[in-house]
Amino acid sequence: MAEENAIELRGVKKAWGDVVAVQSFDVEIRKGEFFSLLGPSGCGKTTTLRMIAGLEEPTEGQILLEGHDVVRVPPYRRNVHTVFQDYALFPHMTVNKNIWFPLKMRGISLSDAGQRIDRVLRLVNMEGYERRLPQQLSGGQRQRIALARSLVDEPAALLLDEPLGALDFKLRGAMQKVLKDIQRNVGITFIYVTHDQTEALTMSDRIAVMKSGRVHQIGTPDEIYSRPATAFVASFIGEMNFLHGRRLQAQGEMPQAEVGGHRFRASRSTITGTPGSGDEVLVCIRTERVQVNSHRGTDHEVEGTVRRIVYRGTDYELTCDLAGQEVRAVVSAVDWNPELRVGTQARLGFNAADITFFPQAEEKEIVQYTTEAV
Ligand SMILES: Nc1ncnc2c1ncn2[C@@H]1O[C@H](COP(=O)(O)OP(=O)(O)OP(=O)(O)O)[C@@H](O)[C@H]1O
Ligand SMILES: [Mg+2]
Repeated sequence: MAEENAIELRGVKKAWGDVVAVQSFDVEIRKGEFFSLLGPSGCGKTTTLRMIAGLEEPTEGQILLEGHDVVRVPPYRRNVHTVFQDYALFPHMTVNKNIWFPLKMRGISLSDAGQRIDRVLRLVNMEGYERRLPQQLSGGQRQRIALARSLVDEPAALLLDEPLGALDFKLRGAMQKVLKDIQRNVGITFIYVTHDQTEALTMSDRIAVMKSGRVHQIGTPDEIYSRPATAFVASFIGEMNFLHGRRLQAQGEMPQAEVGGHRFRASRSTITGTPGSGDEVLVCIRTERVQVNSHRGTDHEVEGTVRRIVYRGTDYELTCDLAGQEVRAVVSAVDWNPELRVGTQARLGFNAADITFFPQAEEKEIVQYTTEAV
């Protein structure tokens, strides 16, 4: 039922001349859902948010808020608020008056607004700060006041565009929890824009992963992490090995490929059609799923030469050479065997359940591995 959805996009496209910022975006966002738009810079996240807010008109498609088409409804008549990275508090107004502002616009006096202001201040844990000016607050505190102001008139949905982008790493982590708690308490739909995969995974009910205006996948954090729809999604989230292989005729149920003379089976493959001779394939396995000198049995075991060992505190990252290709494995520090050294041979174990095949043609979409996607 459409009314159960807070927001619905149907075939939404936005183009400026030749620049297609967003295309064919279809999604139904449920009431009370924490929904994130995740993707690299320029993929169309802000544009999507601005169309929902009414600040941009779609070139094609429909946008529904609580079941009603709002493409022709101006921003101030849409029951949504936007929170930006730069807080946008009024610098000359106290905290109290900043929060009052949306209610004042609706003709509610400061004294009548009192209880509601108190309630949202409690919600963001900022009681006692009513008389301060924005410049007398820290970044995290300002962001909490901006949130309180967006919540005070109880919108149907809150649109948040990288709201924690200006905060340092630790504060960001703390604010993620604050935001998630607030969202749970008020039950308002949140559309959250971020290019930080960890943030999206830890906070969201569902995530849309975008690249160059196209939605690659919409799913729960677990679906996105464990069953990425494309090589781009697989590369953007978490740490993934991509090995070049050659498709083989399947023996039994599972698709198979050859890598450096070894036959690998995969539990998943997004490649359609039957293999021809010499078909190339991307063989994907997460770094934490590669077993190193493990006593647990695995479906495939190969020898690799250790090329690099990086200590990372809680774990070690091992890079091995497998017939001219690099395989990275992450081994927990607890399980670390100090006999592993650069130049020695390591036994690398793989399970078919952890392997996915993607078409070789998707290789150009892969984001090169970094520890922080910023
Ligand atoms: N007013 C505009 N006119 C022309 N092109 C635009 C306009 N606004 C955005 N674009 C283009 O649309 C694309 C998507 O931009 P958008 O701001 O939505 O990206 P984003 O995902 O929010 O990126 P970031 O993470 O850097 O904020 C970009 O290529 C951008 O240059
Ligand atoms: Mg943006």
